[in-house]
Amino acid sequence: MDLQISGRTAIVMGASSGLGFGIARALAREGVHVGLLARDPSRLDTAAARLRDVSSTRISCIVADLASQDAVHAAIGAIQDEIGVPDILVGNGGGPPPGSAADFDAALWEAQARAMLLPVMTMTDAFLPAMRANGFGRIIMVSSTSVVEPIAGLVLSNALRAALANWGRTLAREVARDGVTVNTVMPGRFDTARVQTLHQSRADAEGRSAEEIRRRDLETIPAGRYGTPEEFGAVAAFLASPLASYVTGALIPVDGGLLHGH
Ligand SMILES: NC(=O)c1ccc[n+]([C@@H]2O[C@H](COP(=O)([O-])OP(=O)(O)OC[C@H]3O[C@@H](n4cnc5c(N)ncnc54)[C@H](OP(=O)(O)O)[C@@H]3O)[C@@H](O)[C@H]2O)c1
Repeated sequence: MDLQISGRTAIVMGASSGLGFGIARALAREGVHVGLLARDPSRLDTAAARLRDVSSTRISCIVADLASQDAVHAAIGAIQDEIGVPDILVGNGGGPPPGSAADFDAALWEAQARAMLLPVMTMTDAFLPAMRANGFGRIIMVSSTSVVEPIAGLVLSNALRAALANWGRTLAREVARDGVTVNTVMPGRFDTARVQTLHQSRADAEGRSAEEIRRRDLETIPAGRYGTPEEFGAVAAFLASPLASYVTGALIPVDGGLLHGH
């Protein structure tokens, strides 16, 4: 299927590995000029080289730490210079640390709210007026099934992702007439560095092996396996396309059947 996005531009936050890389690859394969954003320049270069192996489209790299508002503003300038106004903005990044609701740490909440909410909102604020004027824009947020079914031991994810998703749903209705869609994609379990880190920290907390945690985790997934970044990227690329013009304000699970009743 031709997604009709060849020649479009995109910025993918958190694009050097995992789900962000899966999205960047799906977009690059469709001929989108993709800007990859992450902190580590050498991992970014490696990711860009991998994309150039599968696509002749232009790939740009933007080095930025999304936890710093100054860095987010500097990144916006770099994106404007390198790409212009992106047609497609993918809000993604590293996930928050584990934690329980009963153990409250105000400084941690403040820092994580900053790191998880402000980058996507600030980038959107920078590019939304031009997207609306152009009559085309795609804002796609990588979130988690925790938005609709809180995950034990991940209170920061459960609460802050729900806040961002509802910000997006509010925005979706405000800009729906301007050709701009805003959607939240909710990964279930994908075998990425992030999930391996979470398995290890749960294993340490429970005195079990990471392999045992992984086995138990797999049993909860109706599909019986983890998803792949390719499968995730395919859904995001569809949402980025004009074929998905009538999908907005949605919370879309990509989870092998994990969520019930959503
Ligand atoms: N994998 C899953 O099953 C799953 C499930 C639910 C939710 N999620 C969420 O989906 C998102 C992506 O997950 P993933 O599994 O793809 O993680 P990942 O493999 O660890 O990739 C994270 C990406 O974000 C970048 N990044 C991290 N912190 C950053 C920062 N402060 N500023 C800029 N870039 C940053 C990383 O590169 P650098 O380190 O070089 O910056 C990397 O490119 C996370 O928020 C995660 O919590 C994942």
